[in-house]
Amino acid sequence: MKIVTVNASASYDVLIENGLLQNCKDYLAPFVSGKTAAIVSDDRVAPLYLKGVKEQLEDLGCKVVSFVFPNGEKSKTIETYGEILGFLAQNGLTRRDVIIALGGGVVGDMAGFAAATYLRGVDYIQIPTTLLSMVDSSVGGKTAIDLPAGKNLVGAFYQPKLVLCDPQTLSTLPQEIFADGMAEVIKYGMICDEGLLSILKEGVSGRIDEIIFRCVAIKRDIVSRDERETGERKLLNFGHSIGHAVEKCSNFEISHGRCVGIGMAILTRSFVNRGLCEKACETALEELLKQYHLDDSCDFSADQLVSAMGADKKRMGKAIDLIIPTGLGKTAIEKTPMDALYAIVFAGL
Ligand SMILES: NC(=O)c1ccc[n+]([C@@H]2O[C@H](COP(=O)([O-])OP(=O)(O)OC[C@H]3O[C@@H](n4cnc5c(N)ncnc54)[C@H](O)[C@@H]3O)[C@@H](O)[C@H]2O)c1
Ligand SMILES: [Zn+2]
Repeated sequence: MKIVTVNASASYDVLIENGLLQNCKDYLAPFVSGKTAAIVSDDRVAPLYLKGVKEQLEDLGCKVVSFVFPNGEKSKTIETYGEILGFLAQNGLTRRDVIIALGGGVVGDMAGFAAATYLRGVDYIQIPTTLLSMVDSSVGGKTAIDLPAGKNLVGAFYQPKLVLCDPQTLSTLPQEIFADGMAEVIKYGMICDEGLLSILKEGVSGRIDEIIFRCVAIKRDIVSRDERETGERKLLNFGHSIGHAVEKCSNFEISHGRCVGIGMAILTRSFVNRGLCEKACETALEELLKQYHLDDSCDFSADQLVSAMGADKKRMGKAIDLIIPTGLGKTAIEKTPMDALYAIVFAGL
């Protein structure tokens, strides 16, 4: 088993092991024994994994209740959040009970936000079942729901008590959703881990647990130094400013990870084309995106993308914190005036 201990405002372990869900009760026991456990999941994940987790919890003497909502980002709303809170109250969850998020990033973000706010905070455990949620959203304590005005506009920093990653659950993931997670994996390599880029070039077969471990360890290091994203944590947004713009321009038809891949590629090409970053960086990124069935370009114009970026919530006044590639496996945070963005995006299309 691989273990990453996160030391943020709270300290917790991320356990990574193939087949972990089949014997997770030993690891869950210290956090759930004798309590009510409310499992939150979605209607794709629940038929696959809910019964197994429920049985393990019942073996520990827990009362288990479960709330299952329709899968997908369209459910990450204030309405579903309200339904989860209502469900917790109806089932009499108290502050000493526990919420378990079983699913991808949508489940984790919503169950986490419900845990942060129900009774001013109850414990929660993340059991991520997508690659993206294993390497990114289940670690670091960001929880959120969307508003009609934009994604993740309401949320809290609230750390889980435990994260259980079973890479075997990835075997049921559709290929495009696995690819989405790969975009975030490639992102970790690009921001600070050239060695990870080399591993990815060789292929993930038989090494996915090692890759998840490496990504989680990077996130652990960054989050432990900057939990609330006042500085270094912004590096994790590499490719995201332009990526979010691509998502918006496509009316959310193109998935998040794919858009992050496109965002990283546009930005990297721009810095290479303007002589500010070595060509090897662009070549390595484009090859990896292709290898993992992701795109490196889109059909939107610089005008369309920059106006979509103007509405990005990460915009701060007249400038934006752009994460820029400075070399292979190296990035920096650069405060960039909004009026410089057009030239940057145009140079990378
Ligand atoms: N909190 C953070 O730090 C953070 C970081 C990155 C992304 N996010 C959020 O994460 C969300 C995206 O996460 P996601 O890509 O996991 O999306 P998701 O939760 O919607 O999962 C994608 C799809 O895969 C299905 N699925 C999940 N696990 C499966 C499995 N093992 N087998 C078969 N199908 C499975 C789901 O039902 C869903 O249809 C976004 O809402 C994003 O804002 C949060
Ligand atoms: Zn992302």
